[in-house]
Amino acid sequence: MITGFTYCTPTKLYFGKGCVKDLPAVMGKYGKNVLLTYGGGSVKKTGLYDKVRELLKDFNVIELPGIEPNPKYDPSVVTGAKLCKEHGIDVILAVGGGSVLDCSKAISVCAKYDGEGWDLISGKVKAKEALPVVDIITLAATGSEYDSGCVISCTAINDKRGYVDDILFPAASFLDPEYTYSVNKWQTACGTADAMNHVLEQFFASPCSEFNDGLMISALRSLMTNVKTALERPDDYAARSELMYVCTLACNGILSNGAGSSGWPMHSIEHALSAYFDITHGAGLAIITPRWMKEILCDRTAERFVTLGRSLFGFGGGLTDREIAEKVIDAFYGFFESIGIPMHLEPLGVKAEKIEEMADHILANDDTSRDWMYAPLDKAALIRILTASM
Ligand code: NZQ
Ligand code: ZN
Repeated sequence: MITGFTYCTPTKLYFGKGCVKDLPAVMGKYGKNVLLTYGGGSVKKTGLYDKVRELLKDFNVIELPGIEPNPKYDPSVVTGAKLCKEHGIDVILAVGGGSVLDCSKAISVCAKYDGEGWDLISGKVKAKEALPVVDIITLAATGSEYDSGCVISCTAINDKRGYVDDILFPAASFLDPEYTYSVNKWQTACGTADAMNHVLEQFFASPCSEFNDGLMISALRSLMTNVKTALERPDDYAARSELMYVCTLACNGILSNGAGSSGWPMHSIEHALSAYFDITHGAGLAIITPRWMKEILCDRTAERFVTLGRSLFGFGGGLTDREIAEKVIDAFYGFFESIGIPMHLEPLGVKAEKIEEMADHILANDDTSRDWMYAPLDKAALIRILTASM
């Protein structure tokens, strides 16, 4: 069944080798004063920074470098918004991974607001205006290049907020898979795990449809196949291009238009882990996934596992629904392990003594127990998932 929905993605995508040649024309539509944002230096190592500066030679460019993974409200967003106000910035160009882009989206609204920017990010105040954001995405993972969300950490209060508003869609996104050749094995694996989880968060929902299931299973199959190739041959264009395109579509809703919503509980849990321990988002998700699946498996949910098991892994034969479901959970665990993700949180620095506090934090900030969710999680369930993930 496809239920009613409203859908619009206003972001213009430029995809393929050399697509950044169109950057000056696109940027020129918005003005001459550019805030160029980037991360810790990968863009300089790969030569993309020089290329961008050359393409922007006729623009006035102010830079905000050093945006960290799990981008921080203070200093990155605060500094970026200040620069925009001081220099009369017309458009932001984000060059990097999801963290650089998310930070730039947050800057785009804070630059147009005179109060405390965190009030916008935390949803206390609705943003009325934003600067346009253009991006060159260099890591296949979050889908931020085609969605209306950003995720920002406020270390002072151990908070990591997903902030979603139509005003945050990028104006244009440039996706050249060649710029992802330099992504190391760890980030390649974690980025893929993130996108796989985006699909799974949408798959475990009711109602669902054959069409949506088909899109999502195809997305999972493509991610799982192509990540193996990219890990073996980082400069394999075919693999990198599929990873990039599937990641771009996986978080923007298009795969699950007309289906029910799960409420994205694994993301709620992972955002707390990243807020407390600054771990890599995709790794946290990969570790949580099989434990969350075990927690929600019951007679009602078994049917979704069976669809996945039969279509994605070819399980069936004389197995019962429960047996197929168990095999699906083991298969995801084994897959994440096979791409190099340690399947426990402790080695990533997570401390068991914080589990109860994190469970309270999740329920307070991003309530996973709401009754409309596909499988609501109360405090005890959150504690079981986190404890099993250690
Ligand atoms: O900082 P630099 O030097 O650029 O290095 C980065 C960083 O260390 C590196 N990297 C990026 N592109 C590279 C590269 N290294 C070599 N070659 C390249 N081409 O990779 C490291 C990780 O970068 P980051 O941007 O943090 O990774 P990702 O794209 O996975 O973004 C993760 C952030 O996005 C949020 C996560 O919570 C996390 O904060 N998310 C955003 C979403 C959204 N906006 O829709 C949805 C997601 O679920 C997620 O929550
Ligand atoms: Zn994610």
